[in-house]
Amino acid sequence: MPTVTEIREMAGEEKITMLTAYDAVTASIVDEAGTDIVLVGDSVGNAEMGHDSTLPVTVDEMASRTGAVVRGTEDAMVVADMPFLSFGVDESESIEHCGRMLKEEGADAVKIESSPRTVELTQRLSELGIPVMAHLGLTPQKVNQLGGYTRQGTTPEAARRILDLANKHEEAGAFSLVLEHVPANLAERVTDALTIPTIGIGAGPACDGQVLVINDVVGLSEWEPPFAKQFGDVRSEMEGAVEGYVDAVESGEFPAEEHSHHEDELDELY
Ligand code: KIV
Repeated sequence: MPTVTEIREMAGEEKITMLTAYDAVTASIVDEAGTDIVLVGDSVGNAEMGHDSTLPVTVDEMASRTGAVVRGTEDAMVVADMPFLSFGVDESESIEHCGRMLKEEGADAVKIESSPRTVELTQRLSELGIPVMAHLGLTPQKVNQLGGYTRQGTTPEAARRILDLANKHEEAGAFSLVLEHVPANLAERVTDALTIPTIGIGAGPACDGQVLVINDVVGLSEWEPPFAKQFGDVRSEMEGAVEGYVDAVESGEFPAEEHSHHEDELDELY
């Protein structure tokens, strides 16, 4: 498992790969492919739980998913995403929620959607031994304030705010920073300014690493953001398999002889 120090040292040296996973089976596939970091994203809300946003996802749900991903992962670092309102309301409650992901579920670090209000919390968590991955740019938990999943940092003032917050979170002890849906030249500027690695999603190629939602990568999503790339078509594969099963049961083709067994002494049973 790459340590926090090793992930930091990859900045500018070696591209960091990160993918989401929400269950043990997917985590084992992501891990065996050599991914550096498995993110148990609160994107599970949209990707797998049928919600329209990440807002309804609870701490208990994230804890359960994190435990499953940890059990499916041998080599990668596991980062638990902290859901909406699980941090930032009350300091000791925030620490308890974040600590639970490490202490009870076995995660290696937490990710927090960052803002001016999370600088102090990042420092406190880091001091307590809870490594923090910061997240700036499009922060989906603010969807109601942002008015949608729109590109961020597109004006000089907005870009400066992101750069300033990135520096503050690095100073506070964050070991890495996700940059989501921001202009590539802003991501490049932030990457140059920091010593910790940036991990981009919709943030261009200059970041130290890249992250995508696994469902988008394998082709399971019904909708995917413009910056995602599909590398497979698992949805079609699954549809084909399920249709094949339904047809075979309806036609009586399944189960066949080889899927059944007989006990001779039961032939006389009445
Ligand atoms: O929840 C998530 O999956 C994320 C990544 C897209 C960065 O925050």
